[in-house]
Amino acid sequence: MTTSEKASGGAGESDRAAFRAGPVDEQSRVRLTANGLDYRRVSIDEDEFASWLQAVGRGFLDSERSAEQIASIRERSGYRRVTGVYDPAGPMPEVPVSTIASWLGDLSVPGGALIPSCAISAVTVSPTHRRRGIARAMLEGELRAAQAAGIPVAMLTVSESTLYGRYGFAPAARRAGWRIDTKRAGWIGPRPDGRIDFIPRERVRELMPVLHDGIRHLTAGEIDVPGSHWDNFAGTTPTAEKAGEKRAVQYTDVAGEVRGAAIYAVHPDHDDFTKAKVSVHYLVAADDDAYAALWRFLLELDLVAEVSSHELSVDEPLLWMIADQRAAKVSVFDHQYVRIIDVVAALETRRYGAAGSLVLDVDDALGLSTGRYLLEAAADGSARVRALDDGESVEAVTVSLGIAELSATYLGGVSIETLVRAGRVAVDAKGAASTSEAVATASRVLGWHTAPRLSIWY
Ligand SMILES: CC(C)(COP(=O)(O)OP(=O)(O)OC[C@H]1O[C@@H](n2cnc3c(N)ncnc32)[C@H](O)[C@@H]1OP(=O)(O)O)[C@@H](O)C(=O)NCCC(=O)NCCS
Repeated sequence: MTTSEKASGGAGESDRAAFRAGPVDEQSRVRLTANGLDYRRVSIDEDEFASWLQAVGRGFLDSERSAEQIASIRERSGYRRVTGVYDPAGPMPEVPVSTIASWLGDLSVPGGALIPSCAISAVTVSPTHRRRGIARAMLEGELRAAQAAGIPVAMLTVSESTLYGRYGFAPAARRAGWRIDTKRAGWIGPRPDGRIDFIPRERVRELMPVLHDGIRHLTAGEIDVPGSHWDNFAGTTPTAEKAGEKRAVQYTDVAGEVRGAAIYAVHPDHDDFTKAKVSVHYLVAADDDAYAALWRFLLELDLVAEVSSHELSVDEPLLWMIADQRAAKVSVFDHQYVRIIDVVAALETRRYGAAGSLVLDVDDALGLSTGRYLLEAAADGSARVRALDDGESVEAVTVSLGIAELSATYLGGVSIETLVRAGRVAVDAKGAASTSEAVATASRVLGWHTAPRLSIWY
């Protein structure tokens, strides 16, 4: 891990507040009104927020929220822009038939910059109102609202993979679920000299955001984690379920600096006390020593036969710290979805894997980003990007692709070559000796040396 790359950019507090308070998109409002529905923002300080939360819970097949849970969520929801669609003709007109929440956050991109990004969450449509275009109106509405607010990118994590490609989103960072047979793994990694200690949940709640904020810019795909998520990991809300099963440890280096922490739960096997299972809920390491020390601690726990963790990278150094790599069963899933809204701003913010010039001919079904763009990446990884005028011709490798495919490559985790072979992208060899050389050039330029990752759901 290198600390030479510094964080830069990110969303300012006034922009975040303006986006939260901004209006709903007029085009979607008109469309929903024509169908007898009312599309509006919801105040988290009013009673309507409780009904909105109940609708979200129902949409995700959860049980009804208690008054204590609502109070606790309300207290932690100040960062969100909350929107609902209401059906005044129904018997419970105060309960929305559709919900969405969004907020202006930071997305880490290749090279250490943070780009302001519209995070979208809590997308539900009541089963009584499904498949009438309400979700489409809400999503298009949020994307247009983000564009109107000058936000260059949107992002989300998904319940189903098939939902969001139609709006230009694509999985740009995958997550790896790990299940490690600890009796078989055999630690061969470093054994740093610092110390591991148990700490209270309240302490780990304080530590996690500080440690994460210090390193999140180093991994493309990570975001600024909302405080409510840290409370959930640490089990520090008054209504947290099974908080008592969470254990927290920190790693302190020999200089006395706390450099990492982990939260995990142990699930005993009552038939065989040597076969307990450990779920790692969150592990944050500010350097390689902390990473090795924390994972070694977890893999060498007595009476534990299996350690699992579900939001790891596809390229964890951990794999090279165990003697038997087959002790780790790794399953990979689509996870961080990205949707570029402003191609010039988005592409100028990230760094590139190699120098080179590309013309990107982008097709966007929603019309937010359609156009031809010239990207000129320099040897230091920075790039200048500009929209080409109609009919302007440039002698450079031309990549024709949809906005979803461009978004898939944005964090450097999906190669143009893969997308070409999948029939999703076309490359014109202009300026290159052959198509295969042109594809290799485009893949090198848009690639990145570290796999992107996102360590939470939102
Ligand atoms: C997913 C959900 C929000 C869709 O709402 P909806 O109002 O029925 O969706 P729409 O009628 O606007 O459909 C929009 C498009 O998505 C498609 N679609 C909707 N649900 C889909 C599903 N589950 N799988 C695949 N496609 C789906 C529709 O066919 C339609 O396609 P088109 O416009 O390209 O022709 C709704 O079913 C829901 O609340 N599900 C449970 C909660 C959930 O999973 N939310 C998503 C969290 S990430």
